[in-house]
Amino acid sequence: MRIAVVLLLLCGSAAWGQTEHDVADGKATFRSNCAFCHGLTGGGGRGPALISRQFLHGSTDDDIENVIRNGVPGTNMPAFDFEKEELDHLVTYLRTLAGAAPKTTAVTGDPVKGRQVYERSGCAGCGQTARPGIAKGRAVAGKSACPIQ
Ligand code: HEC
Repeated sequence: MRIAVVLLLLCGSAAWGQTEHDVADGKATFRSNCAFCHGLTGGGGRGPALISRQFLHGSTDDDIENVIRNGVPGTNMPAFDFEKEELDHLVTYLRTLAGAAPKTTAVTGDPVKGRQVYERSGCAGCGQTARPGIAKGRAVAGKSACPIQ
């Protein structure tokens, strides 16, 4: 019985060590390949922030791995030729960033008025009308050039 408990503890700590290793590995890959566009801690820059649990192109591990593997054609998001294990580690790391994201609350508001503000303020010329969540205009040295803060 006592041996079983010790074994259980050993397995548990081995699994924990493995996760830590995966996160560290994903972080290193992220810093050398992605931080340039997505920010050192995923806060966004030339590319969108990756600290949300909700991703525009799908939020499952497979969805995210597909985006990384195939890129997003027609945008600055390039395709990467990573091994499956590297992809897994990247996603494991991205999930830790999501944990650091501020809690989201349900948005209330008037979508019709929002659209008017969006159009009146010239957002469409900076972001993308079809997908206003992605702002191309965020590129200016980490600062937003958006007049609406
Ligand atoms: C040259 C700039 C650039 C680099 C480097 C880059 N990205 Fe991106 N990434 C983008 C842009 C721009 C988008 C937004 C594409 C769009 O408009 O849908 C994006 C989108 C994404 C998305 C989808 C976000 C969503 O909401 O669905 C993920 C995930 C992502 N990138 C992960 C990565 C990872 C991981 C790396 C490194 C391996 C990386 N990116 C490297 C520019 C970049």
